[in-house]
Amino acid sequence: MNPSQLSNSVTRRRFLHQSFAFSALAVISANNGWATPLSTAAMHGASDLLMVGDWGYDSHHEGQTAVAMGMRQYSQQLNLLPQALLMLGDNWYGELAGGAQSQRWKTQFEDMYPADIFPCPVYAILGNHDYQRWPGSKVEAELEYARIGKTASGETRWTMPARWYRFEFPKENPLITFIALDSNMPKNGITDRGIDFTLSHEDQAKQLAWLEQELKRPRTTPYLVVMGHHPIFSDGPHGDHPILTRDWDPLFRKYGVTLYLAGHDHDLQHLEFEGHPTSHFLSGGGGADLYNLKIDPSQRGPYAQKIYGFSHLSVTPKQMVLRHLDSNGRTLHAFSKTPSGKISIIS
Ligand SMILES: [Fe+2]
Ligand SMILES: [Zn+2]
Repeated sequence: MNPSQLSNSVTRRRFLHQSFAFSALAVISANNGWATPLSTAAMHGASDLLMVGDWGYDSHHEGQTAVAMGMRQYSQQLNLLPQALLMLGDNWYGELAGGAQSQRWKTQFEDMYPADIFPCPVYAILGNHDYQRWPGSKVEAELEYARIGKTASGETRWTMPARWYRFEFPKENPLITFIALDSNMPKNGITDRGIDFTLSHEDQAKQLAWLEQELKRPRTTPYLVVMGHHPIFSDGPHGDHPILTRDWDPLFRKYGVTLYLAGHDHDLQHLEFEGHPTSHFLSGGGGADLYNLKIDPSQRGPYAQKIYGFSHLSVTPKQMVLRHLDSNGRTLHAFSKTPSGKISIIS
């Protein structure tokens, strides 16, 4: 064990003691690989989805290709049949010439995350790099691709019925109510700057009212998960988001959101806060160049790492398990959460 691994494990132990009534029995395995029998046995009968953020990089594709390959191999090795993919925004960096007809849809989406391994809906949300006119609005192109983009079998996987929307997972006997949001807030009151733009002030207010109405709505699922491209809290260089901490976080606390999924910082994170019902889980390692962390995970964790990778959510009525994986499909960090909010770190 090198010094950084040592301090990491000490930190993690300290975190567990500080934050949770932690049972040693909750540790299923430490530093396990992707074919660990316990990790599959533990989630027998689960519904699975994979997620990735910040993936459609324009200048080079090595990172995206490695992570996408890892997702494919991981699914095949574990015999997973993911019932959804979540694309956490920054779907298209740079120019998307041709909009919904761009060749990039084939090379960097359909072929990269192929329908024979992922024959499922791909729920996508918009990042700041999608909110660009390059050459036309990439937001409009992505909404249009959801309407017209068909695979050879005639089905459309890319799912983005609107900039913010709700769905349930899995489709039959759903366990999770998902609320997909648009986190592209005006910056210092400005909604338009060169090729970049954001939500209008009117849409920002409209979405916030819709969010509260959806959070209030009675639901039958044991879990409530919200996803948006920008993290509310992040140990990465973008840090905590002033508007989302003001507008969304109090609602998440009030309505007991189980989990918030984000990207934007090019790393993998899992943050917990004392007394906060929401686990903050960031998966932004899908292919774009990596960033240095700003806050050491020993200060705020339990986990943050500058690394390429993707994430896996596995759910049963009794618990959900979330895992961060590197591009070789090795588990970097995993935890479980019950509907009542009990968290156990798995590795
Ligand atoms: Fe990004
Ligand atoms: Zn971003």
